Amino acid sequence: MVLLFTSFLSLLTTVYGLTSSLQQVNNWSTASTNPTGVGMYLYKPTTVITPTPILVAAHYCGGTAQAYFSGTQYAAFADTYGYLVIYPNAPAVGSCWDVNTNATLSHNGGGDSLGIVSMVRYAVSNLGGDVNRAYITGTSSGAMMTNVLIGAYPDVFKGGSAFSGVPFGCFAGPYAWNTQCAMGELIMTPQQWGDLVRNAYPGYTGPRPKMQVWHGTADTTLYPQNFQEEVKQWTNVLNYSLTAQETNTNDPLPGYTRSIYGPSFQAILAQGVGHTVPEQANDVLTYFGLNAASPAPTTISTTIGPTGPTSTIFVPPATTVPPPTGVPTAAHWAQCGGIGFTGPTVCASPYTCQVSNAYWSQCL
Ligand SMILES: *[C@@H]1O[C@H](CO)[C@@H](O)[C@H](O)[C@H]1NC(C)=O
Ligand SMILES: *[C@@H]1O[C@H](CO)[C@@H](O)[C@H](O)[C@H]1NC(C)=O
Ligand SMILES: *[C@@H]1O[C@H](CO)[C@@H](O)[C@H](O)[C@H]1NC(C)=O
Repeated sequence: MVLLFTSFLSLLTTVYGLTSSLQQVNNWSTASTNPTGVGMYLYKPTTVITPTPILVAAHYCGGTAQAYFSGTQYAAFADTYGYLVIYPNAPAVGSCWDVNTNATLSHNGGGDSLGIVSMVRYAVSNLGGDVNRAYITGTSSGAMMTNVLIGAYPDVFKGGSAFSGVPFGCFAGPYAWNTQCAMGELIMTPQQWGDLVRNAYPGYTGPRPKMQVWHGTADTTLYPQNFQEEVKQWTNVLNYSLTAQETNTNDPLPGYTRSIYGPSFQAILAQGVGHTVPEQANDVLTYFGLNAASPAPTTISTTIGPTGPTSTIFVPPATTVPPPTGVPTAAHWAQCGGIGFTGPTVCASPYTCQVSNAYWSQCL
């Protein structure tokens, strides 16, 4: 039993084939730079380009830095393209991001958003991070945080990509969950949504980051009206027409429609997809320009803390292929693998199939 478990794990390590491992970064912040105590986890490949682009990848409610690291492809692509990935870990009970407080919705005001921004600043100061190439992506609550950071910190981030979130300020209020917003009943004008963003950083006149939003039409957790409200908000902030300049059907997947409003904003609506739209890492990296260059083979980075297991077999990152529609998926908590198991092995989004032992894998 123990033997089986061990060999299964080493098999997984080999298949995964990353050049480095996820590290928790300790003692990187003070109470003023990280007032809510957001945890900082880092994936830094053994070879990076210098200065090193920074991608922040924010998990969903109930998720963790570790789960988003293992459940997405950003680390595998980092090996190829030489950027570093920061996986922040939400401090709140329930692991939702603070996207509702005044502090988090204000530039340098505090909250979880300041903690994440401080990680980017730390990476620039201490990890060779590129101050001109910091990006953020996230799923669900992490997508809400993407909207928050792109709104309140346009000077820190060059771009955001939000999978199944809500507009900046939509969750504002005393509670971590805003039912009115979630149900798509918080409807405002483009001007009102834009004002929320402009008021987050009064006096800011610099360039605005580019933004990409994704949503499923069958989302009953964060209703798809939130997609329309995001479109109003970012077209207003960027001074684009509400009428898309270009609309591409079946892009990047069948049933997905990409509307391009200008060079700095696009919105992708996924027909029939629920909560959440699976990350499209390839597409996100292309939008950010993070997959344009590979690191020079002679550039060796230093690592933070102890180095993790290294595989000698390099497995190139797979292209993003979502589970084919029509294939049954296992629900949250359900079994999804193990010796003798014959049921569905793909978990319903956003859960991933995690090995407990050789006989039991579960959607977590
Ligand atoms: C963090 O700082 C504290 C206090 O200075 C110290 O005791 C601890 O060992 C440090 N932890 C790490 C991992 O460096
Ligand atoms: C948050 O901002 C709103 C609007 O400015 C204000 O009414 C409210 O009192 C503020 N809440 C806190 C806790 O500061
Ligand atoms: C917004 O766009 C319109 C139409 O393209 C243009 O006339 C106007 O000057 C722009 N406003 C700003 C503030 O850039």
